[in-house]
Amino acid sequence: MSAKFERAGTIEELKSKRRLILRGAHRPILVVEDQGRIFALDNRCPHMGFPLDRGSIEDGILTCHWHHARFDLASGCTFDLWADDVPTCEVELRGNEVWIQTDFGHSNAAAYWQRRLEQGMAHNLGLVIAKAVQGQLAAGVSPIEIVRQAALFGVRNRDGWGTGMTILTALGNLLAVLPEEEIYLALFHGVRRVAADCDGAAPARQRSALSSRPGSGTLKRWLRRWAAVRHREAAERTVLTAISIGAQPAALADLFSSAETDRVYADNGHSLDFINKSFECLDLIGWQHAADLLPSVVGQMVAARGADESTEWRQPADLVALCTNASADLAAGFAAGRDRGPWFKQVELSQNLLSDDPGRIIGALQAAVSEGASLTDLGRSLCYAAALRVARFGTSNEHGDWETAHHVFTYCNAVHQVLKRINGDPEHVADFVEASRAVLHGALAIYLIRYLNVPPARLPAEGDESLDSMPSTIEEIRSALIDAFDRQHQIDAAAHLVMRHLTLGHPPESIMSALARALLREDAGFHAYQMLEAGARQFGEWGNTEPGRHILVAVARYLAAHSPTERGWLQTADIAARLSRGDQLHADEPPARC
Ligand code: FES
Repeated sequence: MSAKFERAGTIEELKSKRRLILRGAHRPILVVEDQGRIFALDNRCPHMGFPLDRGSIEDGILTCHWHHARFDLASGCTFDLWADDVPTCEVELRGNEVWIQTDFGHSNAAAYWQRRLEQGMAHNLGLVIAKAVQGQLAAGVSPIEIVRQAALFGVRNRDGWGTGMTILTALGNLLAVLPEEEIYLALFHGVRRVAADCDGAAPARQRSALSSRPGSGTLKRWLRRWAAVRHREAAERTVLTAISIGAQPAALADLFSSAETDRVYADNGHSLDFINKSFECLDLIGWQHAADLLPSVVGQMVAARGADESTEWRQPADLVALCTNASADLAAGFAAGRDRGPWFKQVELSQNLLSDDPGRIIGALQAAVSEGASLTDLGRSLCYAAALRVARFGTSNEHGDWETAHHVFTYCNAVHQVLKRINGDPEHVADFVEASRAVLHGALAIYLIRYLNVPPARLPAEGDESLDSMPSTIEEIRSALIDAFDRQHQIDAAAHLVMRHLTLGHPPESIMSALARALLREDAGFHAYQMLEAGARQFGEWGNTEPGRHILVAVARYLAAHSPTERGWLQTADIAARLSRGDQLHADEPPARC
């Protein structure tokens, strides 16, 4: 298709007026003359849309008069990276007339915006990142491909996994359940947080696999050895070797888990959480990137401090010794339960995990194992118990204690996901029994935060009179929930609205969508993204049952306790979207022709 040119005016007109504005097809175009040359560019400043015709030109440099970003007239490139480059268009002289190509498109838009994403991430420029995400989506690039670009940037430009990678993965996991209009925001938040983590950080140092082919048992012993003595390089080479000889995701999960759980509840659960998220990121972007991603979580794993160095795990009850003794019996327990058939006591086990007697908690787990509970059964019960700690979090606690409850819940979710991935064959119990120690650690972490439920918050329940007076249609409930997140201290209101929606039998996706909207418009902290994603996963395990409802109540209460925020990033995302669409950003700007 031939390029479309439009007549801007004569050279004499331009010289006498110094600048002309052409009403382009999608945006107003500024035409200027400087030092004998004619230039045409988008009249909306790429920073926040201020009309550039009100700026000044000197020595080939255009200065916007809003925040004073400066641009090279010839290329549109900015001297102030936070403002982004201004799109330019071709100028053609036909006799004494100036003609402008009004199409701002790129010959390969996907490749162009991928380059811009990389540049935006390299300089940690939120506006450029937002536009590049918009541009790629508009060019038909899949959201998961954008996650892949950001993830690979993140692990190559930072020496170790960061919270940004976890946020990116959590939001990547949610893409499948997000409505179309939230996908852009989810990607923007995930990518910008990875870029922020990499800003000023040392890049990753590449290590290579061993050239031999040790067996899986040897690699497992080696990794545990290197983790114990905190030998990061050796541990990374061991992991890379496992990948190079073709270890499958389940085997890699077992490899990591065995070394990770040699320390009890390492780094307050963060280390296992990051390991799990690196696996989930590979599920999204493809396991062919395992050698890029998995070494990034090794550093934290080997450096992590175990709970054995923490007073609360040692006194008044020695919980570490309790775990050590119980783990010695786990293999025998799994062997005893091997032929007991399906086991359906997940809810009962969750209730027992909320006991205030650590010995009873361990006993309940041992009984479940010997009765036939699988690894994933244990993980499921663990998560429901941890979610109840959040759902019943007493607001008389310090606000910061929400994070204590959150840590245990997201750790338990990570344990569950890793155990599901290993999905141990009862016939080969000795092969995965180390990983199952994470269940003991999670159970005692739940025990240690029992004070957060004293007194417990009352859970809304089906049949409560207080629910009867609440909105009843999907739209009314969504609107009331979003309104609640506009105000502080709406924890109980949010919980009741979620329960109301679910007990009326409305589709759970609708309330998930409302919770996602409530989160994505905020300048949310790391934990809020984790909470929504872990809650969505665990709700997926239980569905719209009483445990499932309690899990989403926990999510709603946590998010409501952390809303509202400034919503500054929402404004950045909105400006980028409006600039990309060609919208008018200033009322007195000449409108583009539709
Ligand atoms: S510098 Fe132009 S709008 Fe900010």
